[in-house]
Amino acid sequence: MELERTLTTQRSAEQVLDYLAQFHRVIEWDPSVTRAEKLTAGKPAVGTQFEVHVQFLGNTSTLQYEILEYDSPRRLVLQGRADVYTVTDTITLETSATGATTLRYQVRVHYAEGFKKIAPLLAPLVRRNVDAAIAALTRTLNYQPMPVQRYAGWKDKAILPGMLHFTRRGYLQGKKRWNGLLFDLRGKNILITGATSGLGRAATLALADMGANLIVVARDGNKAQALQQAVKERCGADIRVLTGDMNSLAQTQTVAQTLLQEGKPIDVLINNAGALFNQREVTSEGFEKSLALLLLSPFVLTELLLPLLRQRGGRVINVVSGGLYTQPVRLDDLQYANEPYNGAKAYARAKRGLLDMTRWWAQQPDNHNVIFHAMHPGWADTQAVQDSLPEFYRITKPFLRDTVQGADTIVWLAAAPEPLTCNGEFWLDRQIHTSEIIKGTDTSPAKREQLHQALQQLTESFQRSN
Ligand SMILES: NC(=O)c1ccc[n+]([C@@H]2O[C@H](COP(=O)([O-])OP(=O)(O)OC[C@H]3O[C@@H](n4cnc5c(N)ncnc54)[C@H](OP(=O)(O)O)[C@@H]3O)[C@@H](O)[C@H]2O)c1
Repeated sequence: MELERTLTTQRSAEQVLDYLAQFHRVIEWDPSVTRAEKLTAGKPAVGTQFEVHVQFLGNTSTLQYEILEYDSPRRLVLQGRADVYTVTDTITLETSATGATTLRYQVRVHYAEGFKKIAPLLAPLVRRNVDAAIAALTRTLNYQPMPVQRYAGWKDKAILPGMLHFTRRGYLQGKKRWNGLLFDLRGKNILITGATSGLGRAATLALADMGANLIVVARDGNKAQALQQAVKERCGADIRVLTGDMNSLAQTQTVAQTLLQEGKPIDVLINNAGALFNQREVTSEGFEKSLALLLLSPFVLTELLLPLLRQRGGRVINVVSGGLYTQPVRLDDLQYANEPYNGAKAYARAKRGLLDMTRWWAQQPDNHNVIFHAMHPGWADTQAVQDSLPEFYRITKPFLRDTVQGADTIVWLAAAPEPLTCNGEFWLDRQIHTSEIIKGTDTSPAKREQLHQALQQLTESFQRSN
């Protein structure tokens, strides 16, 4: 079976072919792709291999793709092999006298003997999938910012429809209406915490693909080295590592001071480092660990780095959690010392506090050119979930997102133009969500102000005692 589709774009042929040759990014524009990985180190070239998971008729098939021809900026040929079929994608580009690029995308599907008879039956479905992919690729190459979307508050409040979206289902549904992330982040300085595993690692790799200058804060030198190596192998880029344990305010301040002394603008700060502590523990600086890692450390880092964020109108992205729906902020007991400790509640309260600070910063006139957003990644299969919530993990494992799916909205908030049109919002799957589904859990502006003062007092008292 053979199909050919044509599209045009004002982007240069070089840029288009460069994007398509990073074939692991097919996940951004082909709605039927659920996972895509680059298997070979180095820049895409003949012989570069990818593993691509495709959903078809309710089943997922795994294709081993390889670049067979790469003649930039004219032609790219990829071949994907699954058990019973092979797909060959031939992409040819032409530049018109006006500078527009015409792209011809030819798809040839070859079925193994014994399966050829069903080919005519499958043809309409294959055609539908190819058309959906080409439509999304056309939107990606001719990017038009979309109005930001708000998820229906009643669905969040009805709990079940909202929670179903926490699984990979939410991502896969959302993906059908999204555009690929074909943004040029060269020259943009992005600081991210918690990049050595899980969502932070996935976000780092995606942002490196777009050319950003990445600075990661990590506490573990070996893991940081492994990340540097992974980024190098993926796109040839170098990332910078600043060492710091984010449980420690002193180390968080040192990271910020290093950057302040250098004085370079920060375009995006991603406060992502996190963990859930099932036992109450107090840091050597005297702070309960959930408070220290999930609220005080991002609070201090953000406050200190505001001068660098304001230089070029930066973005702050705070990774919070759907867990915050269950808890209000407890100003009377930020250290969780006055009642029997519950790790999930401590985590939820700290995340609620970080959402509150997101909204507080967004309201400050001095920050007028910086945007602050909080996002919820859904439920993703990461080390933190495996270690801290083993029973939850056992039950939900088949439905969890992978890290790329969980990190998508972090990357989108960091790179896309749409998030610049609003401020202080709470996101899941590129949509704004309500932050209160249980009455009394949300925080009033007055209480947010009090929380800001309380966090400032805690950090000032810490500074005085050191
Ligand atoms: N996965 C989910 O379903 C889910 C849901 C809601 C929210 N989140 C949030 O998503 C964020 C990322 O978590 P994840 O699920 O990707 O977990 P993960 O795979 O365990 O990654 C957590 C990251 O945070 C770093 N980190 C933890 N404690 C640190 C510390 N004291 N100092 C410096 N770095 C530290 C870890 O560093 P090491 O590699 O050194 O451990 C790691 O890089 C967290 O804020 C989490 O609360 C996740």
